[in-house]
Amino acid sequence: MRYVVDGGNKLFGKIDVDAAKNATLPIIAATIMCDDECIIKDIPLYLDVVEMASILEKLGKKILFSENNLIISGSLNSTSVIMAETKTLRSSIFMLGPILAKYRKAIFTSPGGCDIGKRPIDIHIAGLKALGVKFSYANDLIYSDASRVICGEVELSFPSVGATENIIMSAVLSNGEITVIKNCAREPEIVDLANFINSMGGKVFGAGYETIVVYGVKRLHGTEFKCIGDRIMAGTFLIAGAMCGGKIETEGIDPKFLLPLIVFLRNSGCNIDLFSDKITLENFSRLRSIEKIETGTFPGFPTDLQSLILVMQTISKGISIIHETVFEARFKVVQELIKMGAKINVSERYATVVGISKLKASNVKCPDLRGGAGLVLAGLVAKGTTYIEGVSHVERGYYNFDQKLRSLGAHIEKVEDIK
Ligand code: EPZ
Repeated sequence: MRYVVDGGNKLFGKIDVDAAKNATLPIIAATIMCDDECIIKDIPLYLDVVEMASILEKLGKKILFSENNLIISGSLNSTSVIMAETKTLRSSIFMLGPILAKYRKAIFTSPGGCDIGKRPIDIHIAGLKALGVKFSYANDLIYSDASRVICGEVELSFPSVGATENIIMSAVLSNGEITVIKNCAREPEIVDLANFINSMGGKVFGAGYETIVVYGVKRLHGTEFKCIGDRIMAGTFLIAGAMCGGKIETEGIDPKFLLPLIVFLRNSGCNIDLFSDKITLENFSRLRSIEKIETGTFPGFPTDLQSLILVMQTISKGISIIHETVFEARFKVVQELIKMGAKINVSERYATVVGISKLKASNVKCPDLRGGAGLVLAGLVAKGTTYIEGVSHVERGYYNFDQKLRSLGAHIEKVEDIK
């Protein structure tokens, strides 16, 4: 599938922000710790969500998608997560912690890297080892065994989001034992995971701060839960509105999840208004470049919006230097943007962007999820018709992306690839 985008339209209207992809994925994994029925409400069919649910189903869980809700129940009949999906779905590693918590042993294929970097899991393994889990390796498989209760104290070498989530979950069912996790990631999706676990009767305290304490409980019960709004989706649409011009509202997002972006958009010349559960943006003039942009762990500027703000700088007035501090290979979209006339120079983890007034349409390819979304935004402002290959990359993390953009007045269609 490819997107066909005619550039030049302003955007007007309201977007209801979907549930956060990066909250739903660890939360789906957390249902492994409970046999009762768990209902995750209003969950979009992101390709990653569908894949995560299908891995759980292959392991024995009962899975039902019904009226926008994902209903999960039952227990696993296998703790060997050895299937093709785990090579492509990096987030499947989030199942390690919950499986160890409930079943005390697991076999995993080591998850592959992906388009944005090697994505190692050494911090996950080191943290679980510190809590008493034993590991061995053979034929590209990771054998793990928690013969003694998983608990203790651990300090992460880097505030890894996934490692924080995996280690929290590994300690949840260690009845009566306390686990202290230091140097944690502080992303809002981790807070949402903790709230989900606590809604099942778990006891996770301090999520969103550097130190998290888990009081182990005997068992968890079923729950009904609605995840927070997807701050990266909301940020993507706000940047689209800034670039195309017009007036858009993103409803169902807490502004405190996007403060660095809100400051950047305001400094680039946009009118922004904030409400408890909504952000509105209006812009009818040429954007000013942001001189220095540096990504970081929360509450810094999110690496997942780096490709989008990079595209915005290609048509802003001035020069911008973007420093990607989190992933080592997150500038692959640059070569595609240069085909559209963008003036960008990359040196290691720095991209220098000299803004031009207009991009030109071209045939481009999505290098990864967020780079692909960036190319769509580039097509929305380019002169002419842009063809964007690799829609499946984008649909891993954006649901009905083209439909939502069309509802704002964009000229974008999704068409079959020409055979
Ligand atoms: C989560 O990935 C998100 N994915 C990513 O979103 C996001 O970019 C990332 O956090 C950073 O915010 C989900 O939540 C499903 P990390 P995760 O562990 O947990 C290195 C998107 O576009 N590292 O915080 O894998 C790692 O290589 C995706 O929605 C190790 O070295 O990110 C990276 O350089 C992309 N060893 C850095 O830490 C480890 O054991 C941050 O990774 C783990 C990570």
